[in-house]
Amino acid sequence: MKCKFCAGRCSLVNDFGDMPIANGFARLEMLDSYRFRLRTFFCEECKLFQLSEQPSPERMFNKNYPFFTGQSKKMTEHFEDLARNKILPLVKNKQNPFVVEIGSNDGTLLENLKSHKIRHLGVDPSESVNLRAKSRGVSYFQSFFNLQSSVDIVKKYGQADVIVAANVICHVSDLEDLFKGVSNLLHSDGVFIFEEPYLGDVIEKVSFDQIYDEHYYIFSVMSILNICKKMGLSLYNVERLDTHGGSMRFFISKDLSKLVESNVQKEYERELTLGLDKFETFSYFEKKCVKKRDAIVSLLEDLNSKDFTVAGYGATSKSTTILNFCNLSKHEIQYICDSTPQKVGCVTPGSNIPVVSTEFMRQNPPDYLILFAWNHEAEIFSKENRHLSKEVKWIKFIPNLEVIQIG
Ligand code: TMP
Ligand code: ZN
Repeated sequence: MKCKFCAGRCSLVNDFGDMPIANGFARLEMLDSYRFRLRTFFCEECKLFQLSEQPSPERMFNKNYPFFTGQSKKMTEHFEDLARNKILPLVKNKQNPFVVEIGSNDGTLLENLKSHKIRHLGVDPSESVNLRAKSRGVSYFQSFFNLQSSVDIVKKYGQADVIVAANVICHVSDLEDLFKGVSNLLHSDGVFIFEEPYLGDVIEKVSFDQIYDEHYYIFSVMSILNICKKMGLSLYNVERLDTHGGSMRFFISKDLSKLVESNVQKEYERELTLGLDKFETFSYFEKKCVKKRDAIVSLLEDLNSKDFTVAGYGATSKSTTILNFCNLSKHEIQYICDSTPQKVGCVTPGSNIPVVSTEFMRQNPPDYLILFAWNHEAEIFSKENRHLSKEVKWIKFIPNLEVIQIG
């Protein structure tokens, strides 16, 4: 396969088989039979880790998209911090500054700028989340972000001082068009900040559940350096984050003479140590993914044969990869609890496991709870371990498969 970005030679890493839409939680009678082949490739030239195919964006990000950023306390605090400590200092000396967010979801980040009376615009294709943003008084532009929509935005609102995106650039298959749109929309002294799940964490934690339809790319510092080089942009800073199971924040400028912070070199060198430039690293990763899958399946089979009940915690999009790759059903996992009202009453895509409320789980506790929302472990453990009987055990599979006793 040819690289989607640079047309360089790509080698196959993972083949997870046929997958449904990861976020396609639906009522049993509304199930979608659509499937696509979930395979990953590594580009030997630009070092970009990528999927070979992706469902159409309209299939993934439609009016029913069930993810609302504001439902997570941790993400709400995270975006308050991003606004206060990164975006506001960049615009504080500007006259009538303008900030655009790509993939603005329910306006959780932009609300922090609105409260400082900063001119802002959220760009998002999903009606469900835009309506939520509107109800908070956040301005939005309903569209996918690309070169064409950037032209429309500049015409209507002018260029941006800051463009920001969180967990969205990895969704966009045509990176060249996206970065052309960013260059077009950004002022010559503007800054583009984006943060995404980080490849270094996926490889180190064998968190292969980060691989699903929406994550068309999983970025490293070295792949973003290569993208910037081709697009005439400068990556001048990076910051590691603990959100979404390990992310990287990238700071990009159109000004090629801007001072590059030492963090960029530091993280680049760390990636060389991890081997993120070599196919062998990914080949080894693939073997570890299969080994982890087999270990999960055999643990669940063992518990099943002993008549223990198992439930899941967190009907995450990540869990779709695990459930389908491990070929699990409600036979092995009786239900999955989740705090998102829109997901309760639905079944998990492909594996048809009922999604129930957290209250239901507390009233009908299983013997074992498998933690699918592992990126929220601290918040979930501190909340649930008070309620749960000491008989219940957690199953964790990140970084390693382990059973944990409460208390
Ligand atoms: P995320 O990893 O994409 O943020 O999704 C986390 C999922 O886990 C989301 O469906 C909400 C659910 N969740 C709970 O059910 N309880 C919790 O305490 C937390 C933090 C998340
Ligand atoms: Zn490439």
